[in-house]
Amino acid sequence: MELQEFLSSLEALTVDAEHKLSKVTDSASLEAMRVHFVGARSGQIKILQKQMGGLAAEDRKPAGIKFNEIKSRIQNALEQAETRLRSLSSTKQTGPMLDPTLPGIRQHLGRTHPITQTIEHLKEIMGRLGFSVVEGPEVEDTWHNFVALNIPEDHPARDPLDNFYLSVAGQTTFDSSADTACLLRSQTSTVQIRVMEEVRPPVRIISLGRVYRPDEADATHFPMFHQMEGLWIDQNVTMAQLKSVLRMFATSYLGADVHIRFRPSFFPFTEPSVEADFLWNDNWVEFGGAGMVDPNVLQAVGYDPEKVNGFAFGLGVERLCMRRHGVHDIRDLYRNDLRFLHQF
Ligand code: PHE
Repeated sequence: MELQEFLSSLEALTVDAEHKLSKVTDSASLEAMRVHFVGARSGQIKILQKQMGGLAAEDRKPAGIKFNEIKSRIQNALEQAETRLRSLSSTKQTGPMLDPTLPGIRQHLGRTHPITQTIEHLKEIMGRLGFSVVEGPEVEDTWHNFVALNIPEDHPARDPLDNFYLSVAGQTTFDSSADTACLLRSQTSTVQIRVMEEVRPPVRIISLGRVYRPDEADATHFPMFHQMEGLWIDQNVTMAQLKSVLRMFATSYLGADVHIRFRPSFFPFTEPSVEADFLWNDNWVEFGGAGMVDPNVLQAVGYDPEKVNGFAFGLGVERLCMRRHGVHDIRDLYRNDLRFLHQF
């Protein structure tokens, strides 16, 4: 082949490519053109490259220079076509028209459960009174739930009918008085023991969590509920301090006009023991038990009752929450009815 003929077919190919690529309007045709012009196996460029081998040796250099030039011109034309198509498709409207004046779709946001909100609030109030928050397990052994709390084996509080004992893997007979017996804790007083076993006095803690008792559910009972346990151990702690702490707590949570009353009571782990009532909206309502920690309990955890003493209390969290928010049935808190929960 003559050099002249080769050069002019190069030129013709380029003109053709540039013309076609400047007119292309969709990506499928663009792809077809890419294959036609620069396809690796039988594109036009490839064919011309092969023809170059048939030129006379001295013609190959000028042919090569021209060849490289048109190759990059065609590449450029391809790139330009590609950019042009891309900008076309990004401005093209796809899908239905958006009407920004239509009302939006309301997002239903989740929120924390009223009991969780109450727990956070109680922690905050007690934190201001200098109590730090600790946690304990919900599955307990009889030592922490009873023995260390001065509740002897024959005490009715240990009755299997009044507790959720758990069967232990591998054990066929069940003995609620065995050391290995486990149960869902029936009170958060268990945490008093766990804390005192770990730290030396002074101790000033609260613990909030679930407790379990096999009660029939009604407006005021539920087999699972929450307690706030408080414990203050130091030197010369008095009953008057217990009363002030509970009063400060009650006025912070329920309002400045709350009064507080102690009625004599009995708990194996406190002596003397009281029931704490709050006067609220002209009614005395019992919120829980309290008292001075029994020396036997201090001894059980290795404290010296001659040197330190203190008070403990356990309040019903549901009761507090229900009073504050005017809820009359404890079951409402656990029905998971969104119409109820959305009000908090
Ligand atoms: N644990 C007692 C109960 O569940 C309440 C309580 C706690 C009483 C601490 C005295 C001291 O009824």
